[in-house]
Amino acid sequence: MPRLCVIEGDGIGREVIPAAVSVLQAAIPGLEIVRAQAGWDCFLERGVSVPPETIAAIRTCGAALFGAVSSPARKVDGYRSAILTMRQELDLYANLRPVQSLPRVSPRSGIDLLIVRENTEGLYTGRERLEDGGAVAIAERVISRQASERLARRTLDLMKVTGRKRLTIVHKANVLPLTDGLFRDTVRQVVAECRHSGHEVAVDELLVDIAALKLATEPERFDTVITTNLFGDILSDEAACWIGGMGLAPSINWGADVALAEPVHGSAPDIAGKGIANPIAAILSAALLARFAWGLPDAAQRIERAVWAVLEKDLAFEGSLPSPGNTTRDITGAILNRIGTN
Ligand code: NAI
Ligand code: MG
Repeated sequence: MPRLCVIEGDGIGREVIPAAVSVLQAAIPGLEIVRAQAGWDCFLERGVSVPPETIAAIRTCGAALFGAVSSPARKVDGYRSAILTMRQELDLYANLRPVQSLPRVSPRSGIDLLIVRENTEGLYTGRERLEDGGAVAIAERVISRQASERLARRTLDLMKVTGRKRLTIVHKANVLPLTDGLFRDTVRQVVAECRHSGHEVAVDELLVDIAALKLATEPERFDTVITTNLFGDILSDEAACWIGGMGLAPSINWGADVALAEPVHGSAPDIAGKGIANPIAAILSAALLARFAWGLPDAAQRIERAVWAVLEKDLAFEGSLPSPGNTTRDITGAILNRIGTN
């Protein structure tokens, strides 16, 4: 029986994660739950944003569902973002962010793309320093062949399993020929090797600035995008608008034998505690765990179909937005009803 480490985190994480856990339990009866702590409140209470026992619990379970953390936008001594710590300590090297049109909430139908973001290096290694007495601040951007290669292999495996055919490498090698040149060339090499072994994938590349424009104007053009850490972070938030907004965008961080799913959104302090956070991003993230971490595509489909049915038939809308009456509890209840009947 699959085991799940549940980490609610801060803010609306405490509202959307219990909702997603209840949906997972309905779709996978007997799912074993282990609870663990991480985040800003955990740091305030215990002086560490991710306690060692949390890392150990995720490793033992092999799968985790995480809400969000609040991170201060200034340096706090001893604090490091919980999600970045977990990604690095557990070596969760691939961040998958699917962008699919949903009924009624998405501004356009027919969009189905996948953004694969390198998740352990780039500008997120935290190597920042001050020089000239604080007058100059420097961040190091690290790209390695090893990390680019394993990301490309994971992406091509996924494309094979899911029937995706076209890979777009997004980079800025015109300005960063050493770092982004290494990333681009390594991905192309892996694609060429796979071609020799019979797995055909069409490959093209775009500079990140034009990729941002095309994602906003021609999203149907994309099938699978592979890119470095910061570009993937920004482009996947941009692309989330095609799903219908932050409350609907799921993701999964994936390593060699551990997966951690999380909604793309943050802790949303502006709405935390009001009971109005949309749980669908967290619920669709839970479905990604079922599909990728546990190899339970039927359970994943039951959850996704229930979300579709609720959006299509059960929720009241004002324009394309759920009407103010739809609380976290209403939406979760409607999805649980659909899982019970489909
Ligand atoms: P955010 O994603 O928390 O919120 C952005 C906007 O989207 C807000 O107006 C919020 O109300 C809305 N929103 C987000 N999720 C929603 C949901 N499920 N239902 C309805 N509306 C939703 O991003 P923001 O405001 O930039 O950051 C807030 C905090 O979250 C910061 O401390 C930031 O560091 C942290 N953060 C954490 C992330 C993580 O843990 N992976 C990711 C992004 C931000
Ligand atoms: Mg982000």
